[in-house]
This record gives sequence, C-alpha cells and structure tokens, in this order.
Amino acid sequence: MRKMVDITFGSSRYDELVELRYKVLLEPLGLKFLDMHRPKEAGYLHIGCVEQLDDKLLGGLILAPVDNEEIRMMQVAVEPEYQREGVGHELVKYAEKRAKEAGYSRLVMHAMLSVVGFYEKLGFHQEGDIFEESGITFARMVKEL
Ligand SMILES: CC(C)(COP(=O)(O)OP(=O)(O)OC[C@H]1O[C@@H](n2cnc3c(N)ncnc32)[C@H](O)[C@@H]1OP(=O)(O)O)[C@@H](O)C(=O)NCCC(=O)NCCS
Repeated sequence: MRKMVDITFGSSRYDELVELRYKVLLEPLGLKFLDMHRPKEAGYLHIGCVEQLDDKLLGGLILAPVDNEEIRMMQVAVEPEYQREGVGHELVKYAEKRAKEAGYSRLVMHAMLSVVGFYEKLGFHQEGDIFEESGITFARMVKEL
C-alpha cells in the first residue's frame, strides 16, 4: 500500500527526497544539487509517496509559493523502477489537494517536453511558447484548482 506524506524540511525524509531528486532529475543532466539552494527550500511544501510495507520513498515533489494565488510545482520525480505505476499521478493529485487547502487557486509548472503528455492527462494545459533553459526545452503548464 502506498501513502502520500508531507515531508518536513530538514528531516531525514527530506534528505532522502533530495537524493531521489538528484538521482532522477539532476544526475542524468549532469547537474548537482547545490547546498546553497537548501535555505530557500525551507519555505516550500515537500511531498512524498511512501510504500508502507518497507517505508521506501517512491517519489516526491516540491510546491513553491509564487504569490497569494499561484503555487509552482517543481522537481516531480519517481524512482525509475516504480515509474508508470501511477505514483506520479497520485503525487500530483495530492499536491493539488494540498495547494488548494493552503488557499492557492492556480498550480503552475515548467515541464520538459518529454513529459507534457503526463501533465495533460492530469488536466494541465500549456500556456505561452515553449522555452529553453540550460539546453533543455520546457513548456509552462497551468491548472486552475
Ligand atoms: C514523469 C513522471 C513524474 C511520471 O510519473 P509516473 O509515476 O511514471 O507516471 P504515472 O504512472 O502516474 O502515469 C500517469 C499517466 O501518465 C502517462 N505518462 C507517464 N509518463 C508519461 C510521459 N512521459 N509522457 C506521456 N504520458 C506519460 C501514463 O502512461 C499514465 O497514463 P494512463 O493514466 O492513461 O495510464 C516519472 O516518470 C518521472 O519521474 N520521470 C523522470 C523524471 C521527469 O521527467 N520528471 C518530470 C520533470 S518536468
């Protein structure tokens, strides 16, 4: 059985999530997680998906407030061997619920072009032109909550 959890900044589970994000998102692009980014993550919501049988972290994401209405979803990552099993879908649905509970009305994110279809299935739509950052092409995706 899987469960969605809120992760406390600075906890051992947070360190686990940082490692997972590194392995799934940064390492394949040759990027590093820089400790200088940690302090600003204190103000974000951190969310994880845990397998209750062995307490393993299967995936996670971050929500970063933009203003009073908008919150940005970032670093959505699922352990490679658990991808395509519904974990990502459950994570985003839970993030939507948490964002709504926290009073936000708009969820935004920058998706790599290879995963735009995943977010479209979750009801996000593309806004504006695609753009490039560090050699990677992204689309801005938006969902009203
Ligand atoms: C992208 C990612 C978060 C999706 O999570 P996941 O657990 O593998 O996806 P799910 O199993 O929940 O998929 C939900 C639906 O989206 C579809 N889907 C999954 N990945 C997709 C993709 N890359 N493109 C299009 N559709 C996709 C699934 O087929 C499924 O469709 P269905 O409901 O019709 O069966 C995950 O694969 C991942 O971490 N990938 C590597 C990192 C990455 O690219 N992160 C996104 C950063 S912008």
